[in-house]
Amino acid sequence: MAPSDNNVMPSLSSCLRLLLLAVTQVNGLTYTSPSVLPSPPTEGLGGWDAALSEAQSFVSQLTLEEKQNMVTGVKGPCVGNIAPISRLGFKGLCFQDGPLAIRQATNASVFPAGLSAAATWDNDLIEARGAALAREFKDKGSHVLLGPVAGPLGRSALGGRNWEGFSPDPYLTGLAFARTIKGIQDTGVQACIKHIIGYEQETQRFPSKVDGVEIKAINSNIDDRTIHELYLWPFADGVKQGAASAMSSYNRINGTYAAENSKVLNGLLKEELGFQGYVVSDWGGTYSGAPSVNAGLDMEMPGGEIFGSHIGKDIDKGAYKMSRLDDMIVRVMTPYYFLNQNKGFPSVDPSSADIVGFDGSDNPHGFDLSGSSYRNVRRDHAILIRQIGSDGAVLLKNTNHALPLSKPKEIGVFGYDADAFPMSNGQPELIRDSPYGYKNGSLPTAGGSGAGRFSYVVSPLSAIQAKAHEYGAHVQSVIKHSDIIPDKFKLDTVPDVCLVFIKSWATEGADRLSLDADFDGNLVVEKVAAVCDNTVVISHSVGPNLMDFADNENVTAIIASHLPGQEIGNSIVDILWGAVNPSGKLPYTIAHKASDYNGPIANVSNPTTADAFESTFTEGLMIDYRHFDHSKIKPRYEFGFGLSYTTFSIKDLDVQNAYDGHISARPPSAKTQPGGNPHLYDTIFHITCTVYNTGSVKGKAVPQLYISLPSSAPDGTPAQALRGYNKVSIGAHESTKVTFSVLRKHISYWDVTAQDWVIPKGKIDLRVGFSSRDVQASHSIAAIA
Ligand code: NOJ
Repeated sequence: MAPSDNNVMPSLSSCLRLLLLAVTQVNGLTYTSPSVLPSPPTEGLGGWDAALSEAQSFVSQLTLEEKQNMVTGVKGPCVGNIAPISRLGFKGLCFQDGPLAIRQATNASVFPAGLSAAATWDNDLIEARGAALAREFKDKGSHVLLGPVAGPLGRSALGGRNWEGFSPDPYLTGLAFARTIKGIQDTGVQACIKHIIGYEQETQRFPSKVDGVEIKAINSNIDDRTIHELYLWPFADGVKQGAASAMSSYNRINGTYAAENSKVLNGLLKEELGFQGYVVSDWGGTYSGAPSVNAGLDMEMPGGEIFGSHIGKDIDKGAYKMSRLDDMIVRVMTPYYFLNQNKGFPSVDPSSADIVGFDGSDNPHGFDLSGSSYRNVRRDHAILIRQIGSDGAVLLKNTNHALPLSKPKEIGVFGYDADAFPMSNGQPELIRDSPYGYKNGSLPTAGGSGAGRFSYVVSPLSAIQAKAHEYGAHVQSVIKHSDIIPDKFKLDTVPDVCLVFIKSWATEGADRLSLDADFDGNLVVEKVAAVCDNTVVISHSVGPNLMDFADNENVTAIIASHLPGQEIGNSIVDILWGAVNPSGKLPYTIAHKASDYNGPIANVSNPTTADAFESTFTEGLMIDYRHFDHSKIKPRYEFGFGLSYTTFSIKDLDVQNAYDGHISARPPSAKTQPGGNPHLYDTIFHITCTVYNTGSVKGKAVPQLYISLPSSAPDGTPAQALRGYNKVSIGAHESTKVTFSVLRKHISYWDVTAQDWVIPKGKIDLRVGFSSRDVQASHSIAAIA
């Protein structure tokens, strides 16, 4: 949460490695990363041709030293810097974190996390969030926004960075990813899609040394089909959207580090998906020179001993050709020209330079630090932040019409998460009291490079007090858990409603230790519910939590409010008092017990061998709801679920063929475009239905389309997969028509032998409902009889 700089460099020596064909054997199965060489040059596909010519002409004017600098980060005013070349009028490139705020900046906004954005299931809001974020990056002089995140996807409920991204469902993440990128790049800022790929745990994300033995970073063993249908899926959407850059992950994939994995970077990203931008290493995640360059890595960050002047020497030695170096730079500069970043882009705010510790006294590259400092770039973004915060809150339980509140006169507020956190020098002083984060204060975001630097936070307690003041209600609060758990608190009178705030922290660099609320939050709920028969629980959390208290009948309502950003208090007040009708839906599954989840974090307490850390994704495609469906486990609250203050139904499902002509099992061959074979995105069916608001207040519904492939699909196919959703606002007793477009890729599986997407023969089941376990209407149809 505090801009904690835990981007600790791996303690790995910078020695060059040979790019060997890594092979891992697990339970008789072999996981390999075959070499895919050479690295394919960019062609300016996707409308980038004019920008490509400009980039080529730029590169043709560079000296070798300048070329080396164009692909190697240097110390400068941002978290990542490419040096200026003043003789060519190039002012350099500024990379800043991250996915929910410009972190290396003052006077900027802290937006809701990706998780909250996903929980809105509202693509327009998601795009607006991307655009507003990027506006602040641009105003602060940052060319590259290090986000959005689709890796981790969320294989493990305990993953420490899942909240930075969107959802363990690749379709939902893919759409949220693409719309965020659109918002960012339409504003003229480069998106950096990260981290590719298989980065599903924090534990051992860096290599370490134990008793002189170098223990390598975690190795994710993932089969080809699972890579395509889960972990690569959102990246395909991101590439299709025209993402400017991609960040390689810290981990190994099938035995080879991501930054030198030619199968991933050359094979999957550049060849199969037709990625036209550049691949930048994660900070300190480059483990070799020439092998990485050959494998498709285009830029080393933050820059050090690996690329730089070694590049010229590698070319002299014949490790790769000058044309590869030229392609690296063309890849960097094409999106720069495409987004017009050469035309009047603002300078870096010097207060950002202060944050990264660059005062200009040692500035051999001549970064411009003359711009105005401490720029307020927040505009009116608080309005959007507040809206996403409340639209990303999921109402899980609501009995006895507990919510919305109808002007209760006596209000009780409980728990650390209700309160403001201590501020110091205008910044929150977030001291981690335990592995569970900081004790005092609410949780507008979690921790690490994906967090933000607050200008202010509206705490839940202050927003509730302001609301109560409007109509003269009385608020009593007991914040400290150490007063609540031993029953040390006394109330003047039993409140009409008791609002209990609990939280669950996570941060980059560590996985979660538990799925329970931090600081005994669940016990706090039980203690309050023992004295208050109208207890409403609000959780601020990084993802799934166990909620045994849901069975307590004194707990009348539960809201999963995720990580709403700086307007955390206002967002929840809008839901509690009904200014906003809840419309968030779970972008993950809430289980009854921890053992219901799969995808464990791999850990070894006393590693002795280099390859001690292996994580084999034996569950294949069965993560989150796919796993619960497959293993027939009843969730407490299923994926896609969320209540409203009104009710909805769906009728009149109709399916029409949308494809003109014969539907072949495999897509017709075509030149690869960004996103892959363009025919994968051909519409095969249109599905229409009518959604009715059957209640008496206006509300927003999220009809969801789930598809089951026929039994002719290979073993390991999930029982169902989300393949459409739509957020619609409907007046009381009114209805609206909704259309889903089913694309070829949505009804295909990845055939590992054909190395292609294949539509299986037979009837495809289509179901429309309001969650993964709710069926309002269904239909079966064969694409290929
Ligand atoms: C490491 C993180 O993994 C990455 O997401 C971030 O962008 C860089 N550090 C830069 O801070």
